[in-house]
Amino acid sequence: MKLKEEFKVDKEVFTKATEKTLYKLANAGYLDVLEGVISTGKEANVFRGKCRGKYVAVKIYRIETLEFNKLIHYLRGDPRFVVRETKRQMVYTWTRKEYKNLILAREAGVRVPEPIACRNNVLIMEFIGSEDGVPALPAKYMKPEDPEKWYKEILDSIKKLYRKRFVHGDISEYNVLNLNEEPVIIDISQGVVLDHPMAEEMLRRDIKNVLRWFKSLGVKTEDFDSVYRWIKNV
Ligand SMILES: Nc1ncnc2c1ncn2[C@@H]1O[C@H](COP(=O)(O)OP(=O)(O)OP(=O)(O)O)[C@@H](O)[C@H]1O
Ligand SMILES: [Mg+2]
Repeated sequence: MKLKEEFKVDKEVFTKATEKTLYKLANAGYLDVLEGVISTGKEANVFRGKCRGKYVAVKIYRIETLEFNKLIHYLRGDPRFVVRETKRQMVYTWTRKEYKNLILAREAGVRVPEPIACRNNVLIMEFIGSEDGVPALPAKYMKPEDPEKWYKEILDSIKKLYRKRFVHGDISEYNVLNLNEEPVIIDISQGVVLDHPMAEEMLRRDIKNVLRWFKSLGVKTEDFDSVYRWIKNV
């Protein structure tokens, strides 16, 4: 696998351990090249990679993540995961959580990137973008032409997830990509199952955010209570 020299300079992301993880994924056949940076965030950086001629998205979580407390919050209380002690292990569990949540969302019939592989703090998933490698923009920067249709589709996705006893918890115009006018929901790492003590609060937040977002796009949204009841009426 080729790792550009310029990446190696970024010691905060490309620690020795992360480099090793990337090489392991490459040897397992999941990655040939790591190319451009798509996004640099507080918790993770997302890169465009290539595998057997096809683009993939590679999300690399920082071991020294800045919002570490948030992470512990969402991990504790989710019966699917054991919270381990060291930062490193916790970030690894967090990465696996996003991977599992992607699988769950796909099973629920919700359009999210297809998860491809996950190892330590590295998640490889379907690249959301054009065939020639231009990543799709978040809906915040590429507004939907038909917001009514999106509004319905996103509420529908929340309901589909809820039916699977799952809540995303961070749905907004920043975490929905506009792929040729189709919404693709991303950034699902904080998502929890309904047993989690924060699940209810997260569901309310998602609904509020979606109503606010689409109201700002001129959609005649319903009131919170009727949407809430509609979603919970599974
Ligand atoms: N599968 C994907 N295909 C194409 N682009 C992606 C993909 N996943 C993420 N991105 C891009 O990377 C950005 C950040 O991804 P994501 O929201 O998952 O990370 P994040 O946890 O919000 O990072 P942070 O909050 O630390 O900035 C997205 O806004 C999007 O532009
Ligand atoms: Mg995000």
